[in-house]
Amino acid sequence: MSIRVRLLLSFGSVLAVAVILILMTSYLLSVAITGDMRSISSFYKIHYSLHPLTDEEETIFLDLKYLAKQDSGRMTDEVVLADYDGQLKMVQAGLFVRKDDKLIYASPSIGEPKMLSALPGYDAANLSIRSTLNVGSRFFSYAKFDFPYPDGSLGSLYVMKERSPFAELVRTLLPILVVVLLAVMLLTGVLLYRYITRTLIRPLEVLKRSADQIKQGDLQFELKPQSRDEIGQLSQSFEEMRRRLNESIQLQLQYEENRKSLISNISHDLKTPITTIKGYVEGIRDGLADSPDKLDKYVGTIIGKVNDMGRLVDELLLYSKLDLKREPYSFDRVDLIAFARDAAEESAWELADKGIEVDRDLSGSGPLIVLADRSKLKRALGNLIQNSVKFMNGDEKRIRIRAGAEGSQALLAVEDNGPGIPSASLPFIFERFYRGDASRNSGMGGSGLGLAIAKQIAEGHHGSIEVASVPGEGTRITIRLPLVDKGSVDSTAIELQTTGKRNGANG
Ligand SMILES: Nc1ncnc2c1ncn2[C@@H]1O[C@H](COP(=O)(O)OP(=O)(O)O)[C@@H](O)[C@H]1O
Ligand SMILES: [Mg+2]
Repeated sequence: MSIRVRLLLSFGSVLAVAVILILMTSYLLSVAITGDMRSISSFYKIHYSLHPLTDEEETIFLDLKYLAKQDSGRMTDEVVLADYDGQLKMVQAGLFVRKDDKLIYASPSIGEPKMLSALPGYDAANLSIRSTLNVGSRFFSYAKFDFPYPDGSLGSLYVMKERSPFAELVRTLLPILVVVLLAVMLLTGVLLYRYITRTLIRPLEVLKRSADQIKQGDLQFELKPQSRDEIGQLSQSFEEMRRRLNESIQLQLQYEENRKSLISNISHDLKTPITTIKGYVEGIRDGLADSPDKLDKYVGTIIGKVNDMGRLVDELLLYSKLDLKREPYSFDRVDLIAFARDAAEESAWELADKGIEVDRDLSGSGPLIVLADRSKLKRALGNLIQNSVKFMNGDEKRIRIRAGAEGSQALLAVEDNGPGIPSASLPFIFERFYRGDASRNSGMGGSGLGLAIAKQIAEGHHGSIEVASVPGEGTRITIRLPLVDKGSVDSTAIELQTTGKRNGANG
């Protein structure tokens, strides 16, 4: 439910309650002004018929009744009657005495010409002594006693009280009305307040607290929207903002961390050969290379280290260009089968050059077209082959280069029967500067960038790279590229086997 609807409902209910109260009040007011009681008239008539007099008035009435019974002759005595009337006046009541059809005494307050004719007749049994009476527009309640005068005439005495029906009613109803009105309004107010607090104020407070938390740099919390209304949507957007902010800060921290480790890795990797070079150069300066053979060895080592450094710097440069997406790609339609065959033949040459016996076995044909930057893909494949050659340690060494298709993807894989990669290392081998067995590897001159570069290149081709390795059995690294044209090729297109003894092949 939207807040607008909620507000409308709230105000609607307040309005409805107010209207009902106003209607009730105005009805009562109209009754007050016109004096028309209609339905409630019977109620007050019954009430006053049962209790026409107050206790004090009743006492005076009983006194008068006693007097009329015992000494009815005195019921014509002006002075006695005026005395009782005086007492009744004090309690806002009046006295009316009738003898036969004649008026003996009437309080001035009751002095109503039509009263005599309106009063009930004589009743010797005094059956109905309390009742009410309308005279014109006036309304009275009374207690009556009928008695015989000594001369035999019929006497009636009335203690009467004029009732203002509305005044009485309002007097009793108004306090109740006011209390009920106040209670209803209070209750409505409290309910509305609680409702608005729960649905509006509290979520806003939570939002505010969250904003404060973010202001203080704390982003590690979660804001759960409590409702689906505007406030809930706001909370959701707020939570989204917090999440994104947190992510970007984490990313920033990660970049910062990466930058630091990159610098430290580069420094370390450059420092080591420089230290070696320095040692040899100082050796030459100090005359340690005192024979042409020794000098040759020293200079050879220095050149080797300088080459290592050159290679490292080249790889770093390439990696950073790829990483920053500054290295332009020139894509061609490349037949992956032919590409793999060429690469296999070429590396077979190189391996043979290094004294490795090469056994070529090419099979399969047909184009497997991908969009590729030849030189970069060659570089990636070269890095994979280099690793296989470098880490190979068994007696029978075999490298397979495979190309094939799988669904809409072309695969280019390098497989070896080397030592394999421990499963703990598998998640990291594509990270830059990651070198599996650091101590063993350092002697092989690896930069730890080979696979990172291969990964960048695979991704630069909108492809991916993956590894499957069983320690002790071998490793397969596969580059997957989107296939443009499948042609007539099956899964394993070509297979090149390079077998031979390991012969100081350096990655
Ligand atoms: N064919 C493989 N056989 C065994 N281990 C491998 C192979 N290829 C990669 N590795 C592991 O992956 C790590 C990362 O490889 P790479 O990025 O090329 O760095 P480098 O060759 O400089 O060590 C290597 O240090 C090695 O531990
Ligand atoms: Mg390598």
